[in-house]
Amino acid sequence: MNGRKKDHLEISRNEEVNATYNYWDDIEFVHNALPEVDMKEIDATWNEFGKKMNTPIIIAGMTGGFDKARELNERLAKIAEKFQIGMGVGSQRAALEDESSTDSYTVINNYDIPLKIANIGAPQLLEWKDASENAAKAVEMIKADVLAIHLNFLQESIQVEGDRNARGCLGKIQEVASSISTPVIVKETGAGISKEVALRLCETDIVGIDVGGMGGTSFAAIEAYRAKKVDDRVQENLGHMFRDWGIPTPLSVIEVAEACRDTDMTIIATGGIRNGIDVARAIALGADAAGIASALLDDGEKKMEVIIRALKTVMFLTGCRNLDELKEADIWMA
Ligand SMILES: Cc1cc2nc3c(=O)[nH]c(=O)nc-3n(C[C@H](O)[C@H](O)[C@H](O)COP(=O)(O)O)c2cc1C
Repeated sequence: MNGRKKDHLEISRNEEVNATYNYWDDIEFVHNALPEVDMKEIDATWNEFGKKMNTPIIIAGMTGGFDKARELNERLAKIAEKFQIGMGVGSQRAALEDESSTDSYTVINNYDIPLKIANIGAPQLLEWKDASENAAKAVEMIKADVLAIHLNFLQESIQVEGDRNARGCLGKIQEVASSISTPVIVKETGAGISKEVALRLCETDIVGIDVGGMGGTSFAAIEAYRAKKVDDRVQENLGHMFRDWGIPTPLSVIEVAEACRDTDMTIIATGGIRNGIDVARAIALGADAAGIASALLDDGEKKMEVIIRALKTVMFLTGCRNLDELKEADIWMA
């Protein structure tokens, strides 16, 4: 299990595992030659879940469960503290099943992070005897403000040792969301959420959806490389074939925003966000915030500074003084 998380990180760093096309490139802003805004007054503050973040950016959950993961989570926690943005950890299954790895997650508690997001997988909810008890433990472990339940059935389909039973998932999500006091969000991990699925999620007590769309890290590709390591040619082939499976993140944001139009659901756009222009694109399409994972694996602190500067530059060049105005900014699609 911990070996699996270690493989994911190593493969993400060393192999080409992004989807072949990044759909954020299809969206452009209409330049405002007379923005009538003073850049100093631009306010990108994001208030959500009763918390205040300096910008609508979340460091998406990636890891935990082994030594190197502790290092990475600590590095990411420093970035979250410095820029006062939200941060998630990777699946806490490892620590819930073996306490010795808890430290790789709790390391983030040493930092002043405005929004901490705990993480467990939907497939585990189906396996555990008491899903709500484990969910509460995951929250308590990192003193989280929000719990993310991740959906990763594309990955499970390709993973040699994958869990391919998705029956009863929605019911388990509702069981957890209705029984713990911490707000729960549902998060895809690279294949996106359709309008139809979002409508079903809107029937539950969850408060947010991270669309986790296609266009960035592909878990099918990651699992293809893992399958190769154990010489499983069938799963390896399948993984490469499904590298581009899913709903592109921008389309997923549009679909989920449409489904959640009359609700207070928080929408997060993760999947292929590389820079501050992508963050702005996500918000203009209807997201409340954007999540970034693999782009922060190396040199994250420097990159985050540029990301935030680019977001504010887009706001300036479109004449938007705050995020509400950015949501209404004019865009065009290639
Ligand atoms: C190495 C690695 C491990 C990940 N592990 C998790 C995880 O445990 N739980 C989860 O919800 N998402 C996990 N993700 C998915 C990310 O949170 C994110 O949804 C996905 O990588 C797409 O974002 P990106 O294109 O910016 O990388 C992981 C991503 C990477 C790169």
